Amino acid sequence: MDQGPMENAFAAAATLARGDLVGLPTETVYGLGADATNAEAVAKIFAAKGRPHFNPLISHVVSLEAAEALGVFSPLARKLAEAFWPGPLSLVVPRQPDCAVCDLACAGLDTIALRVPSHPLMQEVLRAFGKPVAAPSANVSGRPSPTTADHVLAEFGDKLTLVLDGGPCAVGLESAVVAVIGDQATLLRLGGLSRVELEAVAGPLLAPDASSKAAPASPGMVLRHYAPRAPVRLNGTSAGSGEVMIGFGPGFDGADFNLSAAGDLVEAAAHLFSMLRAADALNPSAIVIATIPETGLGEAIADRLRRAAER
Ligand code: TXA
Ligand code: MG
Repeated sequence: MDQGPMENAFAAAATLARGDLVGLPTETVYGLGADATNAEAVAKIFAAKGRPHFNPLISHVVSLEAAEALGVFSPLARKLAEAFWPGPLSLVVPRQPDCAVCDLACAGLDTIALRVPSHPLMQEVLRAFGKPVAAPSANVSGRPSPTTADHVLAEFGDKLTLVLDGGPCAVGLESAVVAVIGDQATLLRLGGLSRVELEAVAGPLLAPDASSKAAPASPGMVLRHYAPRAPVRLNGTSAGSGEVMIGFGPGFDGADFNLSAAGDLVEAAAHLFSMLRAADALNPSAIVIATIPETGLGEAIADRLRRAAER
């Protein structure tokens, strides 16, 4: 018997709830979706895409109301959301203090990218799942974004238990990304909405500027990520007095934290940003981090740690 769209949406929601990845249709491009509140599920996205670094992901939600539970919307942010949602606009706003989306999905930043997609099948999934879905475009890093379910199957084949077929994408271009902090709107990425359309609602948009807090640059372009206050020492084996140790693998029993006692890189990626934050909160004289093997997700973890260690 053929499954109807509703049953497919429930199957997708059940797969997401298990912590597995799903290929999902949106009106822009197909996404590789995971439960945005589950760091291990989100880590699987980076592993599957082979991303060389942890670029923050867009969290997809069913409504502006659901978005406001996760991010802080200024009047200008709300105006943009009301004008273009559901649709091909992602808004980067400050995270709510109790934001349910995991640190890894936001790459440790204090901001979050949110989008309400208009694709009816994706909306069914979001309604059935009831939680935010983190989803980058469903392509292996460096390859073109997929606009059909077959593209997604060609990229990931049997690595995915489920790809929802919602037909070819109507927009075919990723969403426009606009950061809104207070009354300042910055165009981080052009996409499914033109500058003219956006400026008709928001007024003139700022250009990204890595040196300005009001006009944050997209990490996708400059890779400015959360950096701990404490100095970071890499490839350490133990912490000196006043220092905090983040271990990896067996043999770090006495360490303050362990990214993965089992030496699992997916688990380590899932823990990375929250453990850096937790270590930093202890106000140590330094954060000492064990060597991470640079295979699979280890490459992205090591890349991120080198950036954190740079002063
Ligand atoms: O159309 C789309 O946006 C598709 C579909 C699946 O929704 N998704 C997509 O995601 O293109 P992705 O991960 O390929 O692109 C997300 C962009 C990246 O450029 C990323 O740097 C930026 O959004 N971004 C995410 N969170 C951010 C944040 N907190 N601050 C600044 N930029 C952020
Ligand atoms: Mg992409």
